[in-house]
Amino acid sequence: MANKQFDVVVIGGGPGGYVAAIRAAQLGFATACIESDAYADPKGEVRLGGTCLNVGCIPSKALLRSSELFGEATHDFLMHGITAEGVKMDVGTMIRRKDNIVTQLTGGIRGLFKKNKVTLLAGRGSFVGRDNDMWQIRVAGKDDAEEVVDAKHVIVATGSSPRHLDGIPVDNKVICDNVGALSFDAVPKRLGVIGAGVIGLELGSVWKRRGADVTILEALPDFLAAADPAVAKEAWKTFTQRQGLKINLGVKITSVKQGKKSITIEYETGDGGYTLECDRLIVSVGRVPNTAGLGADNIGLKLDGRGCVEVDHHCRTNLDNIWAVGDVIRGPMLAHKGMEEGVMVAELIAGQAGHVNYDVIPWVIYTNPEIAWVGKTETQLKNEGVEYRAGQIPFLANGRALGQGDTTGFIKVLACAKTDTILGVHIIGTAASELIAEAVVAMEFGASSEDLARTCHAHPSLSEVMHEAALAVDKRPLHF
Ligand code: FAD
Ligand code: NAI
Repeated sequence: MANKQFDVVVIGGGPGGYVAAIRAAQLGFATACIESDAYADPKGEVRLGGTCLNVGCIPSKALLRSSELFGEATHDFLMHGITAEGVKMDVGTMIRRKDNIVTQLTGGIRGLFKKNKVTLLAGRGSFVGRDNDMWQIRVAGKDDAEEVVDAKHVIVATGSSPRHLDGIPVDNKVICDNVGALSFDAVPKRLGVIGAGVIGLELGSVWKRRGADVTILEALPDFLAAADPAVAKEAWKTFTQRQGLKINLGVKITSVKQGKKSITIEYETGDGGYTLECDRLIVSVGRVPNTAGLGADNIGLKLDGRGCVEVDHHCRTNLDNIWAVGDVIRGPMLAHKGMEEGVMVAELIAGQAGHVNYDVIPWVIYTNPEIAWVGKTETQLKNEGVEYRAGQIPFLANGRALGQGDTTGFIKVLACAKTDTILGVHIIGTAASELIAEAVVAMEFGASSEDLARTCHAHPSLSEVMHEAALAVDKRPLHF
């Protein structure tokens, strides 16, 4: 029997892959998406959405919201004159709510595939070879079911997996990566976290708000080194002094031993050796690209030293008509970055002018307060010798923030000293994840700080802090 033939086959059904598949189908291509059973539902049915929908962005934010509500009821209600006694929270319900959201959204992607006529091929995809101008891909499904399909174009979107450390075996029950950490069955009394990156801070905060004693061990000497220094400083103060997260920097883990009742972590810092006892441990030390088993060698697909598929600025690999997007290639491992690349590649295949502006990809850390930024930090600008002007306004100066009872943090706008073009915007504070969108749009349009300063912002709203920060670049804030 002849192989099934497609114009475009996408390997991987995460945000990079499913969006690429939908856009390719919208553009009129016969499109298939191969997804393995990595996140299969209890009946063994393939679940689309990848890390993001199944064990990443969406479930972590669902848990964050539950824990924030608990935190508000137990701490913040009082200032509004609301007394809520005996507030309790059932971890099982919180986890089931999160699971239901995952089911709803992953099912939604299936629906979008149907609507857009994308064929879902269930199984693990790997390259076999090439026959004339068609690439051949093996799809290894359940119960040894196997087929080979032919594709004119292939988009590799196989994503990433958590990096594990030698000598620290992850069982996702007691010692967990993101998968286990999103499904705890009870609040651990003492939670250890290795890595004060995005996952460590987001999930550490979830369980801290639920009453766990959380200690984070970070290898680097600096906290949140990728963020603007002023943001990192404010975050450090808030997390460690106000919220009670214990964060140890410059740590070298020397041993991790799992006993019957607890885990013992030995570590060193510059000033000696320490021991941490905890009941559960989250290992969140970054992620590695999923290229093992892809058959890259079978066709000569080039990988870089970290195992990422090597691509150019437009996500083209070293091979004709093979593209790669998302976590499996260079750049930040963010869902929206992968989605943009998916759209770009589908449009380039269609001969359109697909494009991703890598300079304006927003970053958000969903702690409380949230942290968000786009563009350059002050450190980067200084290192690059760029002259800039900065305007920084605290939420404390904003009526809406005061009314909401949450005045932590600030917004900082950085603009070129010569042209006034906005070069970076940094936010720590409530709703930073939403507020950053204005800065992204402004930067995408090449706006100056004066453009933002002359734009009418609704009153009273948190967005007025952005307005004032833009005015502050020119040293003329009105309310500070
Ligand atoms: P993935 O989502 O990893 O999807 C790849 C898919 O390919 C998977 O479904 C996998 O099963 C499948 N696959 C792999 N190999 C094969 C194969 N050979 N054949 C068939 N299928 C295969 N990003 C954000 O932007 N915002 C957030 O708030 C955020 N929160 C996160 C929270 C956590 C806890 C984690 C772990 C990550 C978070 N991320 C967040 C990162 C985000 O999840 C990833 O950047 C995003 O999922 C990457 O998308 P992708 O499509 O490249 O890969
Ligand atoms: P990360 O790269 O954000 O942080 C890992 C941290 O672990 C770093 O600070 C690193 O210095 C530290 N580390 C590495 N090895 C260590 C060791 N041996 N001992 C102690 N510390 C060590 O990675 P993380 O948190 O695992 O998240 C993975 C990726 O997932 C992120 O980079 C991000 O791309 C994505 N993500 C995005 C989110 C968002 O956008 N809000 C949320 C969660 C994850």
